[in-house]
Amino acid sequence: MALRTLDGVDVKGKRVLLRADLNVPMKGGRVTDLMRLERLTPTIRELSSKGAKVLICSHLGRPRGKRVPEMSLAPVALALGEVLGRKVRFAEDCIGIPAQQAIDLLGQGDVVVLENTRFHPGEQANEPAFGAALARLAELYVNDAFSAAHRAHASTEGVAHLLPAYAGRLMQAELEALHAALDNPVRPVAAMVGGAKISTKLELLGHLVERVDALVIGGAMANTFLAAQGITVGKSLQEAGMHQTARDILDHAQAQRCEILLPMDVVVAAELKPGVAAQVADANAIPAGSMALDIGPLTVRATTGRLGAWKTLVWNGPLGAFEVPPFNEGTVAVAKAVAAATAAGQLRSIAGGGDTVAALQQAGVLDRLSYVSTAGGAFLEWMEGKTLPGVAALEASSIAA
Ligand code: 3PG
Repeated sequence: MALRTLDGVDVKGKRVLLRADLNVPMKGGRVTDLMRLERLTPTIRELSSKGAKVLICSHLGRPRGKRVPEMSLAPVALALGEVLGRKVRFAEDCIGIPAQQAIDLLGQGDVVVLENTRFHPGEQANEPAFGAALARLAELYVNDAFSAAHRAHASTEGVAHLLPAYAGRLMQAELEALHAALDNPVRPVAAMVGGAKISTKLELLGHLVERVDALVIGGAMANTFLAAQGITVGKSLQEAGMHQTARDILDHAQAQRCEILLPMDVVVAAELKPGVAAQVADANAIPAGSMALDIGPLTVRATTGRLGAWKTLVWNGPLGAFEVPPFNEGTVAVAKAVAAATAAGQLRSIAGGGDTVAALQQAGVLDRLSYVSTAGGAFLEWMEGKTLPGVAALEASSIAA
C-alpha cells in the first residue's frame, strides 16, 4: 500500500486527530447499529495503548453548517464508550476553546469525541481556515473513515495536508480488501450488482464490465436490461429512457468478454406489499398485470452454481425487493451460498453498501464473507474506479514524507 499506516509510528504523549466515521443510524437519540463503532475499535485501542491522546472527529447527518441538536455526537460518544468498555469524553465543539479545554484534560491513552464537524460550514466547503483550526488541535492525523473518503471535506481531505497523515487500521483493512477484489483479484472474478436503477449505477456497470469476467445483474435494474432487449416486463419497475444505455452496456460487455448474467426467472406479484400473493414466472413471460420483485429459483440455482467456478466475488446491491418478504428469498439464498463458498475456502467475497449489508444481516451471514465494507457511497465510488479524495490526500502525505 502506498499509504503510511500506524506501523512503527511513535504516538506516545502525542495528540492524534482521528477522523472516524461516526455517521451511524440513530433512533430516539440512541445508536441503532454498532457496526461502524465496532470496526473503529482496533485503531482507537492501538493509539490509546501506545499512549496517544485520541481526539476523534466526525460528521453525523447533514446539518448544513449549523448546530442541529439532534445531530450532536454526544450520544454516539456514549455508545462508543460502551463498545470500548472505557471512558470516552465529549467536547461541545470540534475546534476552538471547547475543544482545547477538553483536550487539556486528557492524559496519555485518553479518548475524546469532538462535536459534529458539519456544524461548521467550513467542513464541507473544505475551507483552509477550518482545516487549520482542526490541525492546530493535534500533532498527527489518522484517517480511519474510508466510508467518508469520497468527500473532499476539511476533516477528510484538507487536514491531511497540514499534519503528518496516516491510514488507521480500518482504512487499511478496507483498502487492502478492495485492492484484492478488483485491482489485483484472483481470477475468475465476478461482480454481482443489484438495486433499482441503471441511472444511479451507470458508471459502476461501465467500469465493472472492463474488470470482471462475469457480471450478475439483479434487482429492478435487471428489468430495464430485459425490456431493452424487447422482452415485455409487465408492470415491473424499469427505466424506459435507459434502454439504449442498457444495450450499450451489453455490447461493451461482449467486446470485453465479460459474461452478463440476467434473471432467467423472476418472482412476480401484482404489487410490492408484504404477504401479497407471489408466483414464479419465466423472465421472458412476465404477465401483463404483474411486476418482477425478486429473482426466481432457477436464477438462484444458476447463480449459486457458478460460485464454485469464481475465485473472487464483489457484491453491491440486493437482487430483489429484499425489505418486503417474500421478495427477500433470492437475495438471502444467494447470500447463504456465497457465505458457504467463502467458508469452504473456494471464494474470496467482498460486499459493501447500506442495503447489501442489511441484506447480509437479514441472511445471518454478515460475518461470514471475506470482507464486508462499512462504506456506502465510498464503496460505490471506489467500485466505479474513482479516486477517493480522502485516500488521495493520505497518499500525497505519505509521498511527501
Ligand atoms: C456515509 O454514511 O456513507 C458517510 O458517512 C458519508 O455520509 P454523507 O453521504 O452524508 O457524506
